[in-house]
Amino acid sequence: MNDILYVTAGLGYPVIVAADCWQQLPMYLKQLGLSGRVHIVSDQHLQIIAKALQEMCGERSTLLLLPGGESSKDSATLMTIYDHLLTARVERSDIVVAFGGGVIGDVAGYAAATIVRGIACIQMPTTLLAMVDSAVGGKTGINHPLGKNMIGAFHQPRLVLADVNLLNTLPARELAAGWAEAIKHGVIRDVQLFTDLANADPLRAFFDAALVRRAVSVKVDVVNIDEREQAERMLLNYGHTVGHALEQLLGYGVLLHGEAIAIGMQVEAHLAYTLGLCDDQLITRQTAILRRYGLPTEIPGGVAVDQLIDVMHRDKKVQAGALRWALPRTIGHAEITRNVPVSTVKNLLTMLIPTG
Ligand SMILES: NC(=O)c1ccc[n+]([C@@H]2O[C@H](COP(=O)([O-])OP(=O)(O)OC[C@H]3O[C@@H](n4cnc5c(N)ncnc54)[C@H](O)[C@@H]3O)[C@@H](O)[C@H]2O)c1
Repeated sequence: MNDILYVTAGLGYPVIVAADCWQQLPMYLKQLGLSGRVHIVSDQHLQIIAKALQEMCGERSTLLLLPGGESSKDSATLMTIYDHLLTARVERSDIVVAFGGGVIGDVAGYAAATIVRGIACIQMPTTLLAMVDSAVGGKTGINHPLGKNMIGAFHQPRLVLADVNLLNTLPARELAAGWAEAIKHGVIRDVQLFTDLANADPLRAFFDAALVRRAVSVKVDVVNIDEREQAERMLLNYGHTVGHALEQLLGYGVLLHGEAIAIGMQVEAHLAYTLGLCDDQLITRQTAILRRYGLPTEIPGGVAVDQLIDVMHRDKKVQAGALRWALPRTIGHAEITRNVPVSTVKNLLTMLIPTG
């Protein structure tokens, strides 16, 4: 596998996953011909390193530090970024560098997509989840009280620069949430990735840049086939139909995004099994790997089935009122399934949700 992955969408861009590469940002900016001012939008947890990055980008560069976490992915945070950029007299040739987790990547990416009708964006993910999933592919946006990620735009970055050593400070729970998306990539498209993850040490695997890069390459391949989520890219939604609904129903931040996806994958694997699309071995292997990486595998008790179904049907994946499900057939292969009766989903959820 190449060390540098390449996304063909937008203007085309390299995706670099390596150790000790964050200091190379100024060099890459030069190589890409991006000579405008750099506006770094980062996470308060990264204050020291973000300041060092700003110093490297020249004295005209700016830095805005925001709190991480899902509650920051809202219109108020977006307005804070707009205020910062406009006060700094942002110009069309300037560059936004989103240096943080998926929340910073999504909201700063959306600010870059919309400020003065769009400026260049560099994604520098600092969580595992952002590396293997959100930094690649150009989906940017914020949440609305009526739905997750409901406001946004496709805005492909000019570069993704992921330094796995930055994951050293990530809390274990956040790390596990990132592995959920990597495991998902294995289930939907890469059986070897799944096996490698099953054999790796969950607490040290992030040091293995090649393993993280392999998980990222699934996302890169899918985006290259289907940038705008017309078909193949929908497969990445495995676990997300139920996962997004759970996140919203329980209140953003109660479950981490990756935790919600892990539970969603379990429900959706059971759905595939109920529909006769996969065998029960798939559920057994998936349950084992998710638990090994410290992820939840069951819906919290007391969630109301009807409410969950209602929220699921407000999802962006709904077409003509019906959900499209990304469901696994075997480990390493998933397909989009339409026309799943709501009654089947309801019966399954009733069975899976503990009462009380
Ligand atoms: N755009 C997409 O295609 C896409 C895909 C998947 C997920 N997402 C979005 O990504 C978001 C979740 O991303 P996330 O899990 O990275 O959340 P996050 O950005 O909130 O980061 C998680 C936590 O880690 C902290 N943090 C970040 N980097 C750190 C580091 N190196 N060391 C210590 N702490 C650090 C943050 O402050 C935060 O508390 C969700 O909003 C989800 O919808 C988007």
